[in-house]
Amino acid sequence: MAVEDDPRKTWPGRLQGAWHALAGHGSTANDPRGAPQALGRGEHPQAALIASLIGGLPDAAIVLDAAGGVIAFNDAARFIAPALRQGEPALISLRMPELVDAVRRASKSREPQRVEFFERVPLDRWFEAFVVPVKLAGVAGWRADVLLMTFNDLSPLRRVEEMRADFVANASHELRTPLAALLGFIETLQGPAKNDPAAREKFLAIMQGQATRMARLIDDLLSLSRIELNAHLQPNTPVDLAPIVRQVADGLQTLARDRSVAIKLTMPQEALIVLGDRDELIRALENLVENALKYGEAGKRVEITLGPAQTRAGAPEARIAVRDHGPGIAPEHLPRLTERFYRVDVADSRAQGGTGLGLALVKHVLNRHGGRLSIESTLGQGATFTMHLPLRTGDFTPSGELS
Ligand SMILES: Nc1ncnc2c1ncn2[C@@H]1O[C@H](COP(=O)(O)OP(=O)(O)OP(=O)(O)O)[C@@H](O)[C@H]1O
Ligand SMILES: [Mg+2]
Repeated sequence: MAVEDDPRKTWPGRLQGAWHALAGHGSTANDPRGAPQALGRGEHPQAALIASLIGGLPDAAIVLDAAGGVIAFNDAARFIAPALRQGEPALISLRMPELVDAVRRASKSREPQRVEFFERVPLDRWFEAFVVPVKLAGVAGWRADVLLMTFNDLSPLRRVEEMRADFVANASHELRTPLAALLGFIETLQGPAKNDPAAREKFLAIMQGQATRMARLIDDLLSLSRIELNAHLQPNTPVDLAPIVRQVADGLQTLARDRSVAIKLTMPQEALIVLGDRDELIRALENLVENALKYGEAGKRVEITLGPAQTRAGAPEARIAVRDHGPGIAPEHLPRLTERFYRVDVADSRAQGGTGLGLALVKHVLNRHGGRLSIESTLGQGATFTMHLPLRTGDFTPSGELS
C-alpha cells in the first residue's frame, strides 16, 4: 500500500537542500532548464560525481535523469533492484508498482514523494522510499533536473511491532483461559453449588490452581521484562556454580519423587566461578531441570552434569548439562523452543501448569551473562539442554585454582 507523507519534513527533504547547495545554485525544482534528455545518449556528464556522492550514503540511493534513465546508484541499491543498469530505464528494473508510480508522480509534479512497499523475495522486507526531484547545474544538452531516490529498510521496526502484537495476544490468551475458569466456578458456587460443601471444596481447589497459574504467568512475565531491561548490564558478582546446581537439585526432589524420576549429579573437583546473578542462574537451571522432570518423566532419570569446557574460540567456559531420557523433541521444534509461549504440545504443557515462558527466560538469562543455551535431542532418545557460561578467568592461577 502506498502511503503519502510530507517528505520535506524528513531527512531526504533536508538532503535535497544539501544537494542543491552542493550543486552550487539555489533555483527551485519547478523551473526546469536545459534541453530534454533522451535515453541512450551516453553517460550523464555528472554521473561520476553523483555516483561518488551517493556511494557515501549508508542506505540505498538511485539517481534518475529527467527521462527516467539510471544515472547512478550505490551498492545498497543493488539489493533492492538487482537488475539496475546505468543508462537504462529505471522503470524496468524497479519491479514494485508503488515505486514506479512514485517516480512517475515525482517526475510529473516535481514534488517529493514518499511510498512504502513490501518485498517477498528473497526475504520479507518492508521499505519506505523517497523520490525527490533535485536540480543540478545545467549541462549543455541535458535537462538540469534529476530524481533522487533513497530507501529506508523498515523491516526491523515492523518485526518488533509484529512481535509486540503477538506477545500481547499470547499473554492475554494465556491469562484469559484461567480467568474464564475462575469466573465459571465463581458463578457455579454462587448458583447451583451454593449449598453443596463437597462441590465447594473441589471447586475451590481448582480455583486455587488456576489463580496460582495466573500468578506464575505474571511473575514470569515480570522476570522476563526485568532481565531484558538489564540485558546490557552483565552481572559482575563472582558466583560458584556447584552450590547452585546442588540447591536446584535439592529443591526439585519433591517433584522428582512425585514423578518417580531419579536425579543424578556429576560435579567437578574444582570450584567453577562465573560472574553472575545467583537468583537468575538458579531460576534458569530450575526451569531446565523442571522441564526434564515434567517432559522427560518417562525416562525415569535425569542427569545434571557440571564441568569446565572450552568455547569454539578456545575461551574457558562452564557447562551445566541437563539430560533426560524421555520422548525427546522433533528437530523442527528445536529452533523455536526459546520463543515466548512456544510449546511443542500446548495441551500437555498447560496440563503441567506450564506457560511456555521458561526457555525464553533461560535464553535471556544466559545472554545477559555472556553465555548461551544449546539443545540437543533425537526423537525417542531424550534431550540435553546445556547452559554455557564464560568462566571468570582474571583471578585464576595456571592450575585453575582461585588465587
Ligand atoms: N526436556 C524436554 N523434553 C521434551 N520437551 C521439552 C523439554 N523441555 C522443554 N520441552 C518443550 O519445550 C516447551 C517449552 O518449554 P518452556 O520451559 O519454555 O515452557 P513450559 O515448560 O511449557 O512452561 P513454563 O516453563 O513456563 O512452566 C515445552 O512446552 C515442551 O513442549
Ligand atoms: Mg518450563
